[in-house]
Amino acid sequence: MIDGKKVLYSGMQATGNLTLGNYLGALKNWVTISDEYETFFGVVDMHSITIRQDPAELRRRARTLLMLYIAAGLDPEKNCVYYQSHVSGHAELAWILSCFTYMGELNRMTQFKDKAAKHADNINAGLFTYPVLMAADILLYQADVVPVGVDQMQHLELTRDIAQRFNALYGDVFTIPEIYLGKAGAKIMSLQDPSKKMSKSDENPNGSIYLMDDPDTIIRKFKRAVTDSEACVRYSEEQPGIHNLIDIYCASTGKTPAETEREFDGKGYGEFKMAVGEAVVAVLKPLQEHFADLSKNKDYIDSIIKKNDEKARYVSTKTLRKVQKKVGFPEQIR
Ligand code: TYM
Repeated sequence: MIDGKKVLYSGMQATGNLTLGNYLGALKNWVTISDEYETFFGVVDMHSITIRQDPAELRRRARTLLMLYIAAGLDPEKNCVYYQSHVSGHAELAWILSCFTYMGELNRMTQFKDKAAKHADNINAGLFTYPVLMAADILLYQADVVPVGVDQMQHLELTRDIAQRFNALYGDVFTIPEIYLGKAGAKIMSLQDPSKKMSKSDENPNGSIYLMDDPDTIIRKFKRAVTDSEACVRYSEEQPGIHNLIDIYCASTGKTPAETEREFDGKGYGEFKMAVGEAVVAVLKPLQEHFADLSKNKDYIDSIIKKNDEKARYVSTKTLRKVQKKVGFPEQIR
């Protein structure tokens, strides 16, 4: 609790271009529920270097991501949007927590297995301990709730396990965080292969909608989206392509799958795909406009970064000091 409010923590990697999956699965929900909480949204640039990055490009993407948080509707005066790498407590707590995390647990992480397979020439220790850094992000701020997409659930469960293990040894140090999944959009799939999640790192750009895609590109990608052979708009697991498009439509419009089926009863895939494309264009337009405005205001963004860095450092240091004391590090003499 901070000032009587529960705490919300979440973050995104500053890697690749954000997709509609990141937006509907996470960012949009952050904005919807942020008012109820004291919030911290990290641009998790330290996680990004588990995969080789071009330094200039990483810096640019990190700043773009921070601005996208704001452009999506997170008022930075009320929400602490900040860079993970500016707050040294993340790395410090991650080290301590890594001594309370088992190799066997990390070995089971499916994201590690996927990334190790994709980057077989660079299976570094950071890639392996990635979930420990993520646990540190969350636990440093004593988060009550963490809104993420389905693909991060396993990491969240591990975070809870680590926190419970630590608390069992040292008393009530960490708040045990709850996962928050949105009603729709928690698992958006590729438009070209609905068995794969929509991902920043997909080689086929037609599989993903990027947040900065212009309206024509968005409509074109939806027109080309892979569908099924039943030729009716029905929400069923047997029609994964249409299932995914209905999820996107519902997450973009707030409608339910049943309402969507009724709306498109007797209509063809072509008409439905157009409607999904238009719904997504409508959702992304204000974000893109807001982003363009923010891009003109460097000083404002810099002032936000400075102010929020300080807040994140202040809150995280309190937890870190408590943890250091619990594990037996000598107190610093000030
Ligand atoms: P990342 O950067 O891969 O994704 C950011 C958020 O977007 C969600 N997401 C999706 N949701 C629905 N459908 C999709 N296709 C889709 N793709 C991505 C993710 O679930 C996530 O919520 N390890 C995290 C970043 C992180 C973090 C944290 C998150 C680091 N520390 C602390 C929460 C709390 C990651 O790589 O997310």
